[in-house]
Amino acid sequence: MEIKVEEGDILTTPSELAVLGCFEDAPLPAAVAALLEPADFSGKAGQTLLLYPRGAVAPKRLLLVGLGKREKASAETIRRESATAVKEAQKLMVEAVTIGVHGDLSLEPEAAAQAFAEGIELGAYRYQRYQTGLDASKSFEVKKSTVFTKTGARTAAGVNAGQAIARGVNFARDLVNGPGYAMHPPQLGEEALALGKRVGLKVTVFDMAQLTEQGFGGILAVGKGSEHEPRFIIMEYGQAKPGTPTVCLVGKGLTFDSGGLSLKPPEAMETMKSDMGGAAAVFGAMQALAELKLPLHVVGLVSSAENMPSSNAYRPGDIIKTLSGKTIEVLNTDAEGRIILADALFYAQRYKPDAIVELATLTGAVIIALGSHATGLMSTDQALADRLSQAGETSGERVWQLPLWDEYAAMIKSQIADLKNIGGRAAGTITAGAFLAEFTGDYPFAHLDIAGTAWVDRPAKPYDTNGGTGIGVRLLIEFLRNY
Ligand code: BES
Ligand code: ZN
Ligand code: ZN
Repeated sequence: MEIKVEEGDILTTPSELAVLGCFEDAPLPAAVAALLEPADFSGKAGQTLLLYPRGAVAPKRLLLVGLGKREKASAETIRRESATAVKEAQKLMVEAVTIGVHGDLSLEPEAAAQAFAEGIELGAYRYQRYQTGLDASKSFEVKKSTVFTKTGARTAAGVNAGQAIARGVNFARDLVNGPGYAMHPPQLGEEALALGKRVGLKVTVFDMAQLTEQGFGGILAVGKGSEHEPRFIIMEYGQAKPGTPTVCLVGKGLTFDSGGLSLKPPEAMETMKSDMGGAAAVFGAMQALAELKLPLHVVGLVSSAENMPSSNAYRPGDIIKTLSGKTIEVLNTDAEGRIILADALFYAQRYKPDAIVELATLTGAVIIALGSHATGLMSTDQALADRLSQAGETSGERVWQLPLWDEYAAMIKSQIADLKNIGGRAAGTITAGAFLAEFTGDYPFAHLDIAGTAWVDRPAKPYDTNGGTGIGVRLLIEFLRNY
């Protein structure tokens, strides 16, 4: 979408639809206050009121959006307002929308512009590839938005960054929303190669022969039951140089998780095409960081497989030898993410990274702990954890840390192999994180469990739509920009 930033007054500029954000604790502009009953709009966060001013102000339609208390306002407030704006424009079938905030924002102009752009592009997203016969109102596209600010300066860079980040998020959403039969591991490999061509990454995809030859025992075991072969994907941006940090981003790419022989019940399986949310975040972040030309060396690693039951599937009781040489006793074939990630995390060590950040829809337990409002964070390095927590606050993709004490690692020791792939019901999210940390050597490692945040059935935020959220992209880019 075309996004412009203008200095000026949204209420004296003619437009089809003007969206004005208003604080709860600041009076409305007099010209607006005259148009409504005071009791009908308080400015509470999320409240909206559509007005038809009939010439009282220049815009033909005026949507008031509550921003809540001014001191609580953040980039997230703006993101939500602008997503609300673009959704209303879609509904009213208005091609161009103007957006502004009444009163002062305590945000840097560049950060505000970025948040406006993110909200607009994320709010406009719909996944309609498989819908036929959509009527005009459902598929209407908003073409242009104009953001009104008091200072035009330094906003163009913010808009560009916001758009690049949102493109990354929407790309991740597309990957997750693709049905399992279409977005299978070889297809994900093709997507990586196409991405590499598009934005300039060195991409390598290991097929069965290479996985076998090099000993990716975890990925091979999990992928055995499916007719779609597993893949390991390497995407490299920039190069290792003294003075340039190297960061490895690792993603779980289970294109469909049936549970395998430890089969999931039907309801639990409904959304399991989204078990590649971690991989999608890595893809989206690699795209965005290349577009933003960040001065870093970043290696994206994705383990991809489909977890299916079949006579050839791996079984409970099997013992797997991973790429690292460590062995895993399989007790539940539904705890497959940690097994394919074991190979990827061990592989990451060859880059001698300054940090390994891995994302996975890993455990149902994290949904019990944090719901859909935060991603679970576990780390072997507190400075790295702090960077991610900070990036979570700024990007609006919050994370919450759980401990990785030795006692948890003891829960996944096996009697017969080095590790077992489940540690019992207690602390299910942490024992999974502790399992992963067995494969990262001494490199600073952070694990993000996005099982609760990668998918939404009923969106709570205006910039989300049902399905894949693209979680992780905004967080990773914020983290990398500050690195
Ligand atoms: N992909 C699931 C985790 C998941 C659950 C993601 C719900 C998104 C929504 C993962 O592979 C899994 O099945 N984990 C098991 C582990 C258990 C068997 C130790 C779980 O959480 O139940
Ligand atoms: Zn599973
Ligand atoms: Zn899974």
